Amino acid sequence: MKIISISMFVSTIFFATTALASPASDSLLTKYKAEGVSRIDAAKAKADWTKEGKAEDGETISCSTCHGSDLSKPGKHRKTHKVIDPMSTRVNTERFTDEKKIEKWFKRNCNDTWGRECNSQEKADFLTFLLAQ
Ligand code: HEC
Repeated sequence: MKIISISMFVSTIFFATTALASPASDSLLTKYKAEGVSRIDAAKAKADWTKEGKAEDGETISCSTCHGSDLSKPGKHRKTHKVIDPMSTRVNTERFTDEKKIEKWFKRNCNDTWGRECNSQEKADFLTFLLAQ
């Protein structure tokens, strides 16, 4: 019983300090740490957000091309011109609540943007940066 109440206490503090995280984002961050990430660098993710790569059609592209730079505002897909809901969890509570969805889009978007998958370090940095928007 004592162990249970201590762990509940610890997780209460954890959730209180990372208020905008979700069970899905917590679980992914734990996974990335298990994959070797020891220091998360949200400032690097901020810079990476506008780091340009070359899309398949040869056009210059970054994360901000589709998601924008003000993450409280909707983005727009560069090809389909479809509106992409804001990335900020403050205005869009559905963000980063589904582990599979997050991983699926990391894979696809990193490939589209930089021509390769993001590694665990980059994903941990991005996720932490995004949760703080
Ligand atoms: C070609 C347009 C495009 C680019 C470029 C792009 N994204 Fe996305 N992204 C999308 C779309 C479309 C979705 C799925 C629709 C949605 O979640 O609103 C999405 C969803 C995501 C999600 C899932 C969010 C959630 O709620 O689970 C993450 C994480 C993400 N993108 C990160 C990135 C990162 C990091 C980059 C740059 C490396 C990037 N995106 C570049 C179009 C793009």
